[in-house]
Amino acid sequence: MSSFPIERSHNGNLKCPEALGSVAEKKEFDFSKALDRPRALNIERQRSCDERSMVELSIGYSPRHLVTKSELTSRLADHVDHLHSPLLKSGINTPRSPTWDPHPLTSEAWEALRRSLVYFRGQPVGTIAALDNSDEKLNYDQVFVRDFVPSALAFLMHGEPDIVKNFILKTLRLQSWEKKIDRFHLAEGVMPASFKVFHDPVRNHETLIADFGESAIGRVAPVDSGFWWIILLRAYTKSTGDSSLAEQPECQKGMRLILSLCLSEGFDTFPTLLCADGCCMIDRRMGVYGYPIEIQALFFMALRCALQLLKQDAEGKEFMERIVKRLHALSYHMRSHFWLDLKQLNDVYRFKTEEYSHTAVNKFNVIPDSLPDWVFDFMPQHGGYFVGNVSPARMDFRWFCLGNCVAILSCMATPEQSTAIMDLIESRWEELIGEMPVKVCYPALESHEWRIITGCDPKNTRWSYHNGGSWPVLVWLLAAASIKTGRPQIARRALHIAESKLLKDNWPEYYDGTSGRYIGKQARKFQTWSIAGYLAARMMLDDPSHLGLVALEEDKQLKPLLKRSNSWTL
Ligand code: GLC
Repeated sequence: MSSFPIERSHNGNLKCPEALGSVAEKKEFDFSKALDRPRALNIERQRSCDERSMVELSIGYSPRHLVTKSELTSRLADHVDHLHSPLLKSGINTPRSPTWDPHPLTSEAWEALRRSLVYFRGQPVGTIAALDNSDEKLNYDQVFVRDFVPSALAFLMHGEPDIVKNFILKTLRLQSWEKKIDRFHLAEGVMPASFKVFHDPVRNHETLIADFGESAIGRVAPVDSGFWWIILLRAYTKSTGDSSLAEQPECQKGMRLILSLCLSEGFDTFPTLLCADGCCMIDRRMGVYGYPIEIQALFFMALRCALQLLKQDAEGKEFMERIVKRLHALSYHMRSHFWLDLKQLNDVYRFKTEEYSHTAVNKFNVIPDSLPDWVFDFMPQHGGYFVGNVSPARMDFRWFCLGNCVAILSCMATPEQSTAIMDLIESRWEELIGEMPVKVCYPALESHEWRIITGCDPKNTRWSYHNGGSWPVLVWLLAAASIKTGRPQIARRALHIAESKLLKDNWPEYYDGTSGRYIGKQARKFQTWSIAGYLAARMMLDDPSHLGLVALEEDKQLKPLLKRSNSWTL
């Protein structure tokens, strides 16, 4: 990656001057260094596992890259000492004093975030989903795994890793619980969606209660929780330089259990992961069943993180081999079949159907008539994105923020695709950012489609909640993605919009309307991940060296975007 001293427009358009920031903001920063730079200065940069090419770990998936098992073992051993970039001792547990003036909102946000802390037997173990007493609690009084991620990042960036460690260990214990829905046992590796602390006043004793989907509305297991857990374990390790947590046998086992779930063989013909509706951030019926982009991107990211964290014992190595093979297949599949830009859209528009045999171009038999009208206008001249879902005769053309940002952070997207995603965000600013960043998906389902796809869900009416609502939490992902692509001004501009409203509106969970102008119909106030997402984004923009906690470097071996057809010959 090269450095981008100032914002540049990839589509040749002139940028809005307010998006360009001050001269001081434009000072040169090499974002490629941010990925691996230890947070303290004067530490010799150590080679991290991010830089390890997967080909170094590969076994026989391609004749060009064939290595023997013993070679593999010794190569892995070479790298074991270089897994992580440690902090200077003084950096741990002591918030660094910033050299810039912190934004006035940050102190309010930190206070609100600290109020959301949840303690178990005297130790902080997570943050509550929302501290809104005015509304029915439902499960908003729980610690959600996915919701805790931005909190964890904020605490790590602030030099407070203990709560993150406690959270990782507590959720790991919950994973080992026996999980049952009706008479059906859930797999061992499933991580909880959420947990809460139950205080027994009689015995004056605290216990944890967890939900693995058996209490959740819709009874869906959270596929994303395990992936977030692995991603968080890497972020903790990267931030603190303390690899002893990840190396604990329990953590290694927890990781292997999650991995066995998603790497297991079945009847699949695709390397992507088949999921039920509601298995991720969008946890209600929204037509994301099948192969949702959010899960595929998190899956890819978690696999790459696990590759860095697994120990090279016999079990670990076996998993590493499986991961490497899967990553190759998954990146090929995603980069070629999920990617949509103007050219690809035109190709789909002209697709022949009913092609049989290996030479088929329209592999999934997508019928051009299924192209929605909006996509022709939405697609900019320059830009592109990973569509929501691809499966037989079904392409969900909707744009989803989380999956596309994680695709950039994990390098599931090629550098060109990453640039194109940011181009699209700039070109479709009104639609995707508007008056509150960021639209969870675009566009909304309306009328008949809404009835059929959501099952008439009154919470997911058009341009509300998961159905085209705007979620402030997503701003941390936008910030990370824009820093990684060398275009921090995009996030700066979005954050500026968020900063003008979030505190005043008491940190809503989501906003409604085509441009996100209204506080969401049923939005909770003091939603923790809106607060923490803001803080994480602000801290990353103020100090881009934090980016390394959530972004991986490109793996050169995954780079070439192979031709769409004839993959069977490769
Ligand atoms: C809603 C969201 C989900 C989140 C939960 C707690 O159910 O859809 O993503 O984890 O609230 O905030």
